[in-house]
Amino acid sequence: MMSLEPKVPAGRMSLTANHAAASRAPEPTGCPALKLARTGNLLPVVGLGTWQIERGECAKVIEEAIRAGYRHIDCACDYGNEKEVGQGIRAAIKDGVCSRADLWITSKLWNTYHRKEHVRAACEKDLSDLGLEYLDLYLIHFPISLKFVPFETRYPPEWIHDPSAPQPKMEMDEGVSINDTWAGMEELVEAGLVRNIGVCNFNVQLLQHVRSVARIPPQVNQVELHPFLVQEQLLRYCAHVGIAVTGFSPLGSGSYEGPASYQAPDPKESVLLHPTVAAISQKLGKTPAQVVLRWATLRRYSVVAKSSKTERQLENLSLFDFQLSAEDIASITALDRGLRYNDPGVFSQGMGACCPIHG
Ligand SMILES: NC(=O)c1ccc[n+]([C@@H]2O[C@H](COP(=O)([O-])OP(=O)(O)OC[C@H]3O[C@@H](n4cnc5c(N)ncnc54)[C@H](OP(=O)(O)O)[C@@H]3O)[C@@H](O)[C@H]2O)c1
Repeated sequence: MMSLEPKVPAGRMSLTANHAAASRAPEPTGCPALKLARTGNLLPVVGLGTWQIERGECAKVIEEAIRAGYRHIDCACDYGNEKEVGQGIRAAIKDGVCSRADLWITSKLWNTYHRKEHVRAACEKDLSDLGLEYLDLYLIHFPISLKFVPFETRYPPEWIHDPSAPQPKMEMDEGVSINDTWAGMEELVEAGLVRNIGVCNFNVQLLQHVRSVARIPPQVNQVELHPFLVQEQLLRYCAHVGIAVTGFSPLGSGSYEGPASYQAPDPKESVLLHPTVAAISQKLGKTPAQVVLRWATLRRYSVVAKSSKTERQLENLSLFDFQLSAEDIASITALDRGLRYNDPGVFSQGMGACCPIHG
């Protein structure tokens, strides 16, 4: 097992040039990094999301993304493609594109493994599927504890406890405390399985609670962030207490469109088509996606954007050769509508449960 980074005194995050590890590959994109408060590890500001990358193409997509310059890959048990992500990572390393130390790999603890006795086995399963010895970051995926489903029964278990039941539904595990789950996460750091731990979809009160019981405080909160959901107060709190933030769904509604979605937003209402974004995009000669992602990084959080297409991956990483004016930043921030595409309070209703985590 790799040893841990030496501890550094806690402090505010800073944006630094990405000189993480001895990088063999050139860094054509000049992607900066967020320095995590506890370990000083450098989280590249732009990562590749892997949710909904089809298994059949996933290994190639990941290998190509690493060749294109991505050094931060955002994975999860729930995405059902960690074996293929691992194949892509290994192919890139084998070909000399970069070393393991050059990469930042995040994975996430699924909701059915929140009991302390399940946390380590769940993490070891992520590691074995990815073919890695350690993770740079392991996150609690949601502050929602579901009844345990053994690996042999179904993996990934997803939201519904028993899909073959007469009335399939989400089943909460009311007996789990987030204190126990967090204690399990801390043991992963101590065992050298993961270097940093954090959470996703946590509000300020829950962050405060975890910080109050933690021996190792959460280093990252990954939450939905885009111009229609700017979450100013959450960002301010996280900066204040030294929690780095990663924004998911940074391009808005794209991943939630389509008939299978519980919400099916109208594609015409996309952030990427909004006249304010379009005008800035035209003025700067950058694409709407680049404008929105640059806006995000200028708000001092990292983003994980998903694309299965190499040209879009490159586009989404090519953000650091232009600036947005203070007026541009303010006008994009003013698009806020408090609009969540990924809200368990909404979609759990369709699965016979009630868990409005943002309520
Ligand atoms: N922690 C959590 O609870 C949570 C929840 C949701 C997501 N995530 C993570 O965040 C990642 C990103 O979020 P997301 O997938 O919801 O949304 P996203 O990355 O904001 O958007 C992805 C969608 O935008 C399209 N797209 C990508 N680049 C584009 C570009 N340059 N121009 C136009 N369209 C573009 C993609 O299509 P193509 O693939 O066809 O290019 C896809 O439909 C996920 O993959 C996952 O890793 C975490």
